[in-house]
Amino acid sequence: MRLFLEMMKVKAVQASAKQDLDWNNLGFEYTKTDFRFSAIYENDAWSEGELITSEIIQIHEGAPALHYAQQCFEGLKAQTAKDGRILLFRPKLNAQRMAITAERLSMPIVPDELFLKGVMEAVRANQSWIPPYGSGASLYIRPLLIGVGENMGLKPAKSYEFRVMVSPVGPYYKSGGLALISLAVSDFDRAAPHGTGDVKAGANYPVGLYATKKAKELGANEALYLDSAEHRYLEEAGSANIIIAQADNKLITPKSDAILPSITRRSIMAIAEQDLGMKIEERAIDLRAEVDSFVEVAACGTAAVLSPVGKIWFDEGWHNFYENGEQVGPVMQELYDLLCQLQCGEREDHLDWTQEVKL
Ligand code: PLP
Ligand code: COI
Repeated sequence: MRLFLEMMKVKAVQASAKQDLDWNNLGFEYTKTDFRFSAIYENDAWSEGELITSEIIQIHEGAPALHYAQQCFEGLKAQTAKDGRILLFRPKLNAQRMAITAERLSMPIVPDELFLKGVMEAVRANQSWIPPYGSGASLYIRPLLIGVGENMGLKPAKSYEFRVMVSPVGPYYKSGGLALISLAVSDFDRAAPHGTGDVKAGANYPVGLYATKKAKELGANEALYLDSAEHRYLEEAGSANIIIAQADNKLITPKSDAILPSITRRSIMAIAEQDLGMKIEERAIDLRAEVDSFVEVAACGTAAVLSPVGKIWFDEGWHNFYENGEQVGPVMQELYDLLCQLQCGEREDHLDWTQEVKL
């Protein structure tokens, strides 16, 4: 009995002790953690799901996820709050978005309860990998839904795996933190009107790799897309939505059916309106006609958080937003602070946006 109690004590200590990582200098990279959550859909029903240790997915060579990209994913983060609590940010919206994506790709919906259970269990089981408060890092959570089993013809898979993997990460862009990034308008399109740009299909992303490569050759961090019909209206960056501060306390963001409805962007727009009294607008934004009215620009998303944009490349030249060169402007700084304070429990969460993971 004493041995058993000792073992339990060791296990508890191991669970809460932090891994030996350089938390302040993590990049946005995959780190293998101890557990992942997996549930299987077969014969029209989901299994309960369980924690597993192997990071390898054994997949049939005929799987529709491989041939026809019948696959989608989500992204959210767990953060350590000042008081030690572990907080998720609006995870139900990720569950809802995955359900919308699944329906669009003819995949079975992962019920909200299963989605949230998978996220909670994966975070709880990997608590030693959750970056400490103040490190600027977080535990990135990547839920995946993939069509497995074999299929030759173009039809939906008969079985699916819902998996939740996690990895400690630092800033998404190499410049890090609130350093200015740059974007280059792409000649290529990311998504068509009435296509899949508004859902989180994995298939939306490889088409952007080439555009990103071209953007990087110009010295930009990432590609920026205009609408594919006219190449005139701003859409979004490869992995983030766009927000723009204008004179008269205005914050605008592109309205388009071809962009991902970012949870971060929706939250920032609400914060701007409610906490800063800004006038917010979601509308078509004609880049060339309006660029001179852009006072501050930022890319935003779970991975990108809020990344101020210093300059945009289009029509063969750079358009700079900051005369002072390297410093983030006051509006984006304030929005970033308010968002981060909320996400890591430093500010009253009167809208109940954060959800604690009970350890
Ligand atoms: N746009 C794209 C294409 C993305 O991949 C992401 C990331 O999920 C976002 C925007 C930001 O969305 P969210 O704030 O929900 O993470
Ligand atoms: C996220 O921000 O969670 C994303 O999924 C973007 C991804 C391309 C890193």
